[in-house]
Amino acid sequence: MPCRVVVCRDCCCGSPKVTGVDHAAQTARLRAEVPVRVSDCLDVCDQANVIVVQPSAAGRAAGARPVWLGLVNDQDATEDIVTWVRAGGPGVAPLPDILDLYVFTPPRRTAGS
Ligand code: FES
Repeated sequence: MPCRVVVCRDCCCGSPKVTGVDHAAQTARLRAEVPVRVSDCLDVCDQANVIVVQPSAAGRAAGARPVWLGLVNDQDATEDIVTWVRAGGPGVAPLPDILDLYVFTPPRRTAGS
């Protein structure tokens, strides 16, 4: 299984509540480059827009877990995610330093896995 990206789009992520980002363009950009699944609310709305990068089978075998990225509200971050996923994603390619700033630990659940 390849590395996949879960894009949250619901009550907050992808809504006008999050300003300064073209949500449709963000989803389209990711879809054009990597496998994408759009998800209902992941219950971490204070982090909107939320994107979860799921490890590939190889990444999982290397011990990687899904990586949650929050406040992904600029085009550069979206591009950095594309680059990372194309390089192999969690467990395969090192997390780019710049994406470190977006990583958070979901408080309540381990969804996205
Ligand atoms: S809408 Fe994305 S976390 Fe709630």
